[in-house]
Amino acid sequence: MKTCGLALILGVSMISSPGRIKAGAVDGHSFSKPGDVRVRHLDLDLNVSFEKHELSGSATLDIVRAPGSPADAPLILDTRGLEILEASETGIIEGRPIPFEFGVEDPIKGKPLILKLSAKATSVRVVYKTTAKSSALQWLEPKGTAGGKQPFLFTQSQAIHARSWIPIQDSPNVRMTYNATIRVPDGQTAVMSADRSGDKNCGDRVRGFYFAMKEPIPAYLIALAVGDLAFRPLGPRAGVFAEPSVVDAAAYEFADTEAMINKIEKRFGPYRWGRYDLLVLPPSFPFGGMENPKLTFATPTVIAGDRSLVSLVAHELAHSWSGNLVTNATWRDFWLNEGFTTYLERRVLEDLYGKERVDMERLLGREELKKEIAEFAPHAQILHVDLTDRDPDDGMTRIPYEKGSLFLEVLESTYGRDRFDRFLKDYFDHFAFKSITTADFVSYLKTNLIDANPKVAEPIDVDAWIEKPGLPENFPVVSSNRFARVEEAAKTWSEPGVKIDVERAKEWTTHEWVHFLQSLPHQLPVERMAALDTAFGLTNRGNAEVAQQWLVIAIRNAYSPADARLEKFLTTIGRRKFLMLLYGELNKSHEGANRAKAIFAKAKPFYHPIAAESVGKLLGVEN
Ligand code: BES
Ligand code: ZN
Repeated sequence: MKTCGLALILGVSMISSPGRIKAGAVDGHSFSKPGDVRVRHLDLDLNVSFEKHELSGSATLDIVRAPGSPADAPLILDTRGLEILEASETGIIEGRPIPFEFGVEDPIKGKPLILKLSAKATSVRVVYKTTAKSSALQWLEPKGTAGGKQPFLFTQSQAIHARSWIPIQDSPNVRMTYNATIRVPDGQTAVMSADRSGDKNCGDRVRGFYFAMKEPIPAYLIALAVGDLAFRPLGPRAGVFAEPSVVDAAAYEFADTEAMINKIEKRFGPYRWGRYDLLVLPPSFPFGGMENPKLTFATPTVIAGDRSLVSLVAHELAHSWSGNLVTNATWRDFWLNEGFTTYLERRVLEDLYGKERVDMERLLGREELKKEIAEFAPHAQILHVDLTDRDPDDGMTRIPYEKGSLFLEVLESTYGRDRFDRFLKDYFDHFAFKSITTADFVSYLKTNLIDANPKVAEPIDVDAWIEKPGLPENFPVVSSNRFARVEEAAKTWSEPGVKIDVERAKEWTTHEWVHFLQSLPHQLPVERMAALDTAFGLTNRGNAEVAQQWLVIAIRNAYSPADARLEKFLTTIGRRKFLMLLYGELNKSHEGANRAKAIFAKAKPFYHPIAAESVGKLLGVEN
């Protein structure tokens, strides 16, 4: 296993610090006790077997004991679906075996691995392999990829899936640096959320790839992908990886990436991660995007051909400040990641493409928010949400994104854009490379914005925004003339027999199409569905955002000409947001629910475990 190991020595962290141990930041989703023993650096050494669908190798963890912690306090790691083969001390007492045992398994958290270290231990090596229960991993057969020739592997660690491929302290409150050696079959390329420091032939048709992440990050940001990958530069520090048949389209779509970095830097402080690359995954990627540091993972469904869905790039890039630099300490504080990022995303887009476009995105966001506020139980409408005994993946609603962002818009309009920009810039600097709670933010906000500006007429009810359900009354009005015209068209064209004037929609952008479809009445006669479809070719739209809206309407109105398209969509795209919307709509009728189950049975092998789990729960199907 140690052959072809770490050839180049990749200097260990310069900024790594054990971090403050804060009272109050108790992470109920991790078994680890970083207040006693804390991991500060990880060395991964893994072999990738596409035959066995298995990662095998070792994780070597450098640890620090907190002063005053009991000398016999064990190191507790999170695991799920891992087979642990061996544990030993490394460093000074090289090789001494460490007694270990598993604690009681929890259905959400997995199993604690308890390692009984000697009081002097500074580093431990855990030898292990992944299993079919490793929920972060998707092993794709060649037919699940664009090229169709080579298999593909990728990880999705957020929120608590890192523990299913690395035995680790899987809490956003524990930051570590990492190095990695990844051995893959010849012809495959490995990429990670880290700097690439070369690759070399390891014999026996194996190639080793070496990585170093020198900035301390939480485990949920550790990511790996292996496949047939090509690269195109997008600018001096940005580029894109994708399968060879996709990479040029991706490079066209993401051409503005470098400009986006420059825009955020100008307002909110330096980009602190060196390079910013994107990786376009196969269509089963369960999210729109994932902000893995230095290497955003993205769904291919954003490659619309017209750059209309690049808000996703702005979003994932913005996480390099809100999320990766300043991180939620627990999953209850998730809105600090996503609300801030949604706010920043729209500020970059406004700087680059102007207010008219961004106001459309803001309005679409507000519509989604209003819908959830109307539907959700009060506790689920709270930003600082209580996730006790809940899977943090279930907390991923629009509330942290849209309500969080709206709260920041209110702060901006109350204190003025310039002052608020300065506040945010200082905030990112003050908490850089720290994990913070909602209380940490509130206290910083009170001192540095609210109390520092006592003359502002109407103080904001911070508590109502953060701790209460619903929406406080006063927030800035957004309007869009273009949306108003779209609403007018939706109204006119849903009248029976009215002729559709195609010219009126000629210049519509993706956002206008989405809004148009959302503005149609819930019940539409088949004659109207057919008229719209004939006029605009809606069933065959390639743009995934437009297609999903149309398919919802098709399900609702039993429009059978779209049946085949729906099935194709659900069996070729594994993005959870789309799946939940479409299966959810099907599930509203008895007949639809049966159809949903039949499609799911067929499509499930193609979905990532996280998406399959969510859909299974929704349809009440055993996983
Ligand atoms: N970090 C999230 C994705 C995530 C959240 C994964 C929670 C697992 C658990 C990412 O930044 C995100 O928000 N992605 C969005 C796209 C974005 C443009 C709103 C998505 O995937 O839909
Ligand atoms: Zn996000």
